[in-house]
Amino acid sequence: MSGIPHDHYEPKSNGEKWLNSRLPVIGLLYDTLMIPTPKNLNWMWIWGIVLTFTLALQIVTGIVLVMHYTPHVDMAFNSIEHIMRDVNGGHMIRYFHMNGASLFFVAVYAHIFRGLYYGSYKAPREVTWIIGMLIYLLMMATGFLGYVLPWGQMSFHGTAVITGLFGAIPFIGESLQTWLLGASAVGQPALNRFFSLHYLLPFIIAGLVIVHIWAFHSTGNNNPTGVEVRRTSKEDAEKDTLPFWPYFVIKDLFALAVILVIFMAIVGFMPNYLGHPDNYIEANPLATPAHIVPEWYFLPFYSILRSFTADVWVVMFAEWVSFGIIDAKFFGVLAMFGAIAVMALAPWLDTSSVRSGRYRPMFKWWFALLVVDFFVLMWTGAMPAEGIYPIIALIGSAYWFAYFLVLLPLLGVIEKPLPAPATIEDDFNDHYGKPSGTPAE
Ligand code: HEM
Repeated sequence: MSGIPHDHYEPKSNGEKWLNSRLPVIGLLYDTLMIPTPKNLNWMWIWGIVLTFTLALQIVTGIVLVMHYTPHVDMAFNSIEHIMRDVNGGHMIRYFHMNGASLFFVAVYAHIFRGLYYGSYKAPREVTWIIGMLIYLLMMATGFLGYVLPWGQMSFHGTAVITGLFGAIPFIGESLQTWLLGASAVGQPALNRFFSLHYLLPFIIAGLVIVHIWAFHSTGNNNPTGVEVRRTSKEDAEKDTLPFWPYFVIKDLFALAVILVIFMAIVGFMPNYLGHPDNYIEANPLATPAHIVPEWYFLPFYSILRSFTADVWVVMFAEWVSFGIIDAKFFGVLAMFGAIAVMALAPWLDTSSVRSGRYRPMFKWWFALLVVDFFVLMWTGAMPAEGIYPIIALIGSAYWFAYFLVLLPLLGVIEKPLPAPATIEDDFNDHYGKPSGTPAE
């Protein structure tokens, strides 16, 4: 499967040979598990496994929750209370699922920013990156759809606000919104279809994860140096890599265990910390909460959505050139999706010939600012849109776009990169010293 030379599975016993000629499943498992992996991967390469685990956790806990949940506007809220109070272990299953969503997003953001720093999105890994982006969009959709199900105040009014955004699309917006909701307002048809889709999407994500893994197994993993594994001979490839099993499996499981200790502490001691208290009040269409705040993982993009108000010059300009078709609300929607689209286009926007940020002295600082910007946007997204917050959010949004559309193309041209090690083996030996018994060259 991989272009890196290594041993492939050879069936030994008669039984194995019999199966292998009919369904080479053991070979597939063997090649997946024994895949040569750059031996210098650091701790930022653990998030893929954390994501895989969390996806499984969400599916398993979700299926158990569905056994006791009722997707009806008169019963949904009470069925959640029933899960929390009456079902054996129900409160734990629910808290795992609620906080599992947060763990999923912590891991995905760490995974994405890892990719952005080490240039994992660059050729030949563009397809892995784009599939990742599709997964991320589906994760956002799944998170949004799931938040509706407890039918609390935030569920209801959050849904009204977000589906209202579709109404901002010129010409087709209103019909689209009605089509999405199955009615002119949030109600039973919306709850039913959101429930159905919330159940479906994780399985589509799981399918995409398989393709994602297939894609990076075809190119081989990136690594902190951004230098490729030598493909010249099996001996060279072996000096740069170690098999995934047992080396990286053990490392990843150790990291997962540490993360799960923190996760369990949150689930056990502060399970509602990341939630909103208003969602423990049953949905009431007649009483709108003072501040409708999305879940924390949507906040940076929610902040971008809100920051382009009618008095911002780009918005005024867009409105003028489009003869009023692009108003502030629609502009906000475009900006929110645009912020994700520019990230998806990173492989083609980054002009640097050097892959890893480690050897890019200027890029490093702008990247650090992007990370700070992400948290600033998260913070402004949680604040009311008044006073100084919209201005900070606007600066933050502008920087987000400037990073991808201006800095990535520009830095590749003006920056003088630092020398990178010639091989992964060199990098590994620089860090850990030569393994004892290595013959002098
Ligand atoms: C359910 C969500 C996801 C799962 C289960 C997943 C899984 C994985 C795994 C297991 C790896 C290899 C090990 C590692 O790098 O940690 C990986 C690599 C990668 N992922 Fe993801 N991923 C997910 C989402 C994403 C997203 C949203 C992106 C960003 C667009 C992304 C971009 C990448 C890239 C570029 C690599 C290659 C890195 C390399 O070759 O070293 N992934 N993913």
